[in-house]
Amino acid sequence: MKKYLPILAGALVVLLSLPGCRIFQLQEIEVNTITLATEAPTTAPLTTAPPTTVPVTEPTSEAATEETTSGEETTEEPTTKKAPSGVTVEKGYSANGYRIVEIDGVTYVKTSYGDVLIANKTYSLPRDYGPGGLTRACDAAYDELKAAAAADGIDIFILSGYRSYDLQTSLYNRYVADDGQAEADTYSARPGHSEHQSGLAIDVNSLSYSFADTPEGQWLAAHAHEYGFIIRYAKNKQGVTGYAYEPWHIRYLGKGLAAAVYESGLCLEEFLGITSQYQ
Ligand code: DAL
Ligand code: ZN
Repeated sequence: MKKYLPILAGALVVLLSLPGCRIFQLQEIEVNTITLATEAPTTAPLTTAPPTTVPVTEPTSEAATEETTSGEETTEEPTTKKAPSGVTVEKGYSANGYRIVEIDGVTYVKTSYGDVLIANKTYSLPRDYGPGGLTRACDAAYDELKAAAAADGIDIFILSGYRSYDLQTSLYNRYVADDGQAEADTYSARPGHSEHQSGLAIDVNSLSYSFADTPEGQWLAAHAHEYGFIIRYAKNKQGVTGYAYEPWHIRYLGKGLAAAVYESGLCLEEFLGITSQYQ
């Protein structure tokens, strides 16, 4: 009997791998399901592979931190995985002389600090654009900011990080239903126009104007630039940014540019010389 064992084992393997046999195939399907489910929120290289020259705002895809799954955060998959063309389309110069380019429908302003991804009322992001979470650089910078705040006894936490086009659509539509479009446009971006879709913007702590007067809001206003962020929609800049004051919304620019914008006292549109207006 012993000598027949290898033959019997071989026959069993052949049998189990026949198309009719479900055991191995089911195992394979389960493994694939698990793989897909765990991969989805972490990377989307094909939709987000950045142009080769985007050091500052590089939308590299990276899992959001645990915190970014709270609030309005989503862990849904990017909607498509279209290969980027990487083709640069020249769009002229900003009012301040910065070169503007468009790559795969995404607008970048080229500065000496790096290329700055722009998402505002003038410049939109394609529906299928999205890193699926905060970009690696933004996520790392936020961790640094949070740790520095904690060392000063300040608790900074994320309410909303990356938002897909579809999630922004739901939010915006709800605000329009509640407040009417004109009012909603002062505080919520239309789908495709939100910086949150870029994975480079974060809402922290409280969506209340009074946040600005709290120790946390004051710490953020005074120190965000040291970690590469700016308070994106500044007080009294609604006519330029297109949005009312948001002391809770920080935008990652990288330390050099964030410090330069902060020191200038200008909002990003003024600094770069670009507009923020719907067509
Ligand atoms: N609240 C900002 C403008 C947004 O919706 O992206
Ligand atoms: Zn925001």
